[in-house]
Amino acid sequence: MPEISIRGLEMPESPIRKLAPLAAAAKERGIKVYHLNIGQPDLPTPQVGLDALKNIKRDVLEYSPSQGNLSYRKKLTSYYSKYNINIDADEIIITAGGSEAVLFAFMSCLNPGDEIIIPEPAYANYMAFAISAGAKIRTIATTIEEGFSLPKVEKFEELINDRTRAIMICNPNNPTGYLYTRREMNQIRDLVKKYDLYLFSDEVYREYIYTGSPYISAMHLTGIEQNVVLIDSVSKRYSECGIRIGALITHNVEVRKAVMKFCQARLSPPLIGQIVAEASLDAPEEYYRDVYDEYVERRKCLIDGLNRIPGVYSPIPMGAFYTVAQLPVDDAEDFCRWCLEDFDYEGETVMMAPAAGFYTTPGAGVNQVRIAYVLKQQDLERALIVLEKALEAYNNRSK
Ligand SMILES: Cc1ncc(COP(=O)(O)O)c(C=O)c1O
Repeated sequence: MPEISIRGLEMPESPIRKLAPLAAAAKERGIKVYHLNIGQPDLPTPQVGLDALKNIKRDVLEYSPSQGNLSYRKKLTSYYSKYNINIDADEIIITAGGSEAVLFAFMSCLNPGDEIIIPEPAYANYMAFAISAGAKIRTIATTIEEGFSLPKVEKFEELINDRTRAIMICNPNNPTGYLYTRREMNQIRDLVKKYDLYLFSDEVYREYIYTGSPYISAMHLTGIEQNVVLIDSVSKRYSECGIRIGALITHNVEVRKAVMKFCQARLSPPLIGQIVAEASLDAPEEYYRDVYDEYVERRKCLIDGLNRIPGVYSPIPMGAFYTVAQLPVDDAEDFCRWCLEDFDYEGETVMMAPAAGFYTTPGAGVNQVRIAYVLKQQDLERALIVLEKALEAYNNRSK
């Protein structure tokens, strides 16, 4: 049999999905599983988007332009200007989700062997995209004890060498919910400028910021306009994960030219998705407010609930809809598996993502899990009870 490629073998399994077969088996046994593991929002898609989908009347479902529909890109500029991100429609490239934007950014800006510095824990698919591009991720540790704030400049500089080409951030952060401060963003700006690096900034959670602190986009940083590549997506903003629409945005014309060649090779971003995403830009203010308010409530319910469970600690996430929590277990992956394979409380159990998969440093995050608060409050409350019972039972196993 022919061999699988080294890249194929090195691709990491998704830490979010790898326990999925165990959850499926638990459900087969009739157990209800609370999915705290996955960032698939359950809140409704804007009605204007759903209506646009229902009213599609076309004779041909054709390719759209490789860069994305101009009408959509033009309309997006007004959306971004609300966040003080001032760009032209030409500077936006529509992609199949934020995922494709990350992949094309890496493919266009990095050579095989080039290094990207990413604070860990990090969104696990960055590692997968880096492997796809032959690039290497160097992680810089952030810790739960310090609320996942960024380490000092010197720590970055220890990692910088002549293969370093980029820094990547996710702000607000998946998996930690951390929001970078102005000071931290300025620190990143100075590094990017000093070493002439790319700054890939994934800001797909910008709608979900729960503190009074301002949201500082990489696009707000002056002096590095040509270095910044913004990654965006409608998946989380409008609960539209399934329409596969994202964007890559940059003022750098050379980067856009390179990215466009990848876009041309894959021909077209999704046509139907763009129609829905464009219509969704007309969602009323009320939509954004209702979704936001719901996450605020859920966050409170989850974080208070977690910190009430003996031995559990979660910092307060400032954005997105995730938290990384520390559990009173030695090995959170083993615990997560056990929850699905060997435990139920009144016919129910919980599924969480072991956080070690979001770190590259061996041993980091072994007693942590990532929890997403994309369940209704009532379900979150119940999931917290089930989690507490599971921890008790797990830690009493050998006694
Ligand atoms: C931080 C971050 N970036 C990018 C993505 C990619 O999402 P999509 O490809 O659906 O836009 C996700 C999805 O969970 C994410 O959490």
